[in-house]
Amino acid sequence: GWNDVGYHNLAMKTPNIDKLAREGLILNQTYFQPLCSPSRHAFMTGYYPYRAGLQHLVIMPWQPVCSPQKMKFLPQRLQDLGYATHMVGKWHLGMCNWDCTPTYRGFDSFFGFYHAKADYYSHISYKYLDYRDNEKPVKNLNGTYSTFTFTSRAQDIIKKHNSSQPLFLYMAFPIPHEPLQVPQQYEDLYPNTMSKGRRQYSGMVSALDEAIGNITDQLRESGMYDDTLIVFTSDNGGSPMDHGNNYPLRGAKFTVYEGGTRVVSFVHGAGLQKTGEAYESMMHAVDWSDTLVAAAGGEPDMRDDGVSQWTAIAQNSPGPRTELVYNFDPDSAPEQGHAAIRVGDYKLIHGYPGLFPDWYKVDQQYEFNTEPSVLEMLEHTERYQLFNIKDDPTEQNDLAQSKPDIVKKLSQRLQMLTKNALPPNYPLVPDPKSDPTHFDNVWSPGWC
Ligand SMILES: *[C@@H]1O[C@H](CO)[C@@H](O)[C@H](O)[C@H]1NC(C)=O
Ligand SMILES: *[C@@H]1O[C@H](CO)[C@@H](O)[C@H](O)[C@H]1NC(C)=O
Ligand SMILES: *[C@@H]1O[C@H](CO)[C@@H](O)[C@H](O)[C@H]1NC(C)=O
Ligand SMILES: *[C@@H]1O[C@H](CO)[C@@H](O)[C@H](O)[C@H]1NC(C)=O
Repeated sequence: GWNDVGYHNLAMKTPNIDKLAREGLILNQTYFQPLCSPSRHAFMTGYYPYRAGLQHLVIMPWQPVCSPQKMKFLPQRLQDLGYATHMVGKWHLGMCNWDCTPTYRGFDSFFGFYHAKADYYSHISYKYLDYRDNEKPVKNLNGTYSTFTFTSRAQDIIKKHNSSQPLFLYMAFPIPHEPLQVPQQYEDLYPNTMSKGRRQYSGMVSALDEAIGNITDQLRESGMYDDTLIVFTSDNGGSPMDHGNNYPLRGAKFTVYEGGTRVVSFVHGAGLQKTGEAYESMMHAVDWSDTLVAAAGGEPDMRDDGVSQWTAIAQNSPGPRTELVYNFDPDSAPEQGHAAIRVGDYKLIHGYPGLFPDWYKVDQQYEFNTEPSVLEMLEHTERYQLFNIKDDPTEQNDLAQSKPDIVKKLSQRLQMLTKNALPPNYPLVPDPKSDPTHFDNVWSPGWC
């Protein structure tokens, strides 16, 4: 969440993150999708989720769905440029077919899990094991907190890497996603935090911070630190129900308000010419693939929705993006469907913004609905909200009534940008072929 890093919230203990952010360049207007599968798809391919049918909620373990094969993944583009590519952590881009999985989509190696979340100790996800070393299930690490395993895997990759070849390491840390689990010593860093949940959540963030410290130490030991570009980004806003916090931004994970979509992000290291500042240009997850390919010396893909921000970031000069689509899923209304666009300073939301629409202060008790109210969704189906994000970044003043001309202009622009949108690929009936009992009780590819 926006308010879950030390450089935005002094109560958070994230010394490594804060130091890297201050020495680097804080990306202060960077957007992702409100949820993880669509966000990861956008990051990996450079295409908005509505171009791939991935705009509605997230991929469930029993859905025969993955990020479309015809869209090239970032690590494949980096392999073309001679990179070694490795991934550690959470995938969540589909796994029903081997061709959907990390080692078939551009990664030389993979250690982690395929679904949205897993128990951090037993590595059980939706009742069955979901833990892999490349393609092999990992059954001997029951009881070991995955953050330690992921970190030492990253250190091993760096140690063994021959630095005459360039390296792309994608560390998709699942922490601080629920379930809230963390070794006691990290929770104990927050004795003044009132609620147990917020203590655990904050402890998870500090464990992540320590992991980042250990990995950067390994880069130093291996003589690679000075040549490394580090990108830090969240994939969506914090979830207040699970004690994540985005204050003072409005909304959270699940919503198209800023709290769900404007993420904490910075870059650090090689290639940056103006550091210790903030980059205030608009950026979206779809820009990362072209941006990192450009940083690696390659050419942008002109067909995708992304633009390379590399030159602008490297010099901290104004960036190329003037508009972005937060999401486009109106046909799923009233089932949490919504659409939103930003053009310049203005943002238009069409439909139900999402599950957690308010401003949530840190470490306070709220009553949350885990399911959206149907009435509330129906009331919003045709509703527009308009905000000036520059003057009102916390979305307090809805201007839709007072500026109907801007509402019209943005809604036409959204229609035009999304005229080639695909319908959501979101089957509601679980595919029985996905059942892990067919695969030795392990969530496994090979059924679509
Ligand atoms: C980021 O943007 C906010 C406004 O949303 C502003 O208050 C802050 O100063 C900016 N810069 C940094 C480094 O956070
Ligand atoms: C993991 O270990 C716990 C505690 O020893 C045990 O209850 C559980 O059944 C084990 N899980 C698996 C998948 O082996
Ligand atoms: C690293 O790779 C280069 C080029 O392939 C090779 O010459 C060198 O011997 C390798 N170094 C090690 C330590 O393997
Ligand atoms: C970081 O390294 C220290 C020292 O080796 C170790 O005790 C700690 O568990 C590591 N933390 C993580 C998150 O890997």
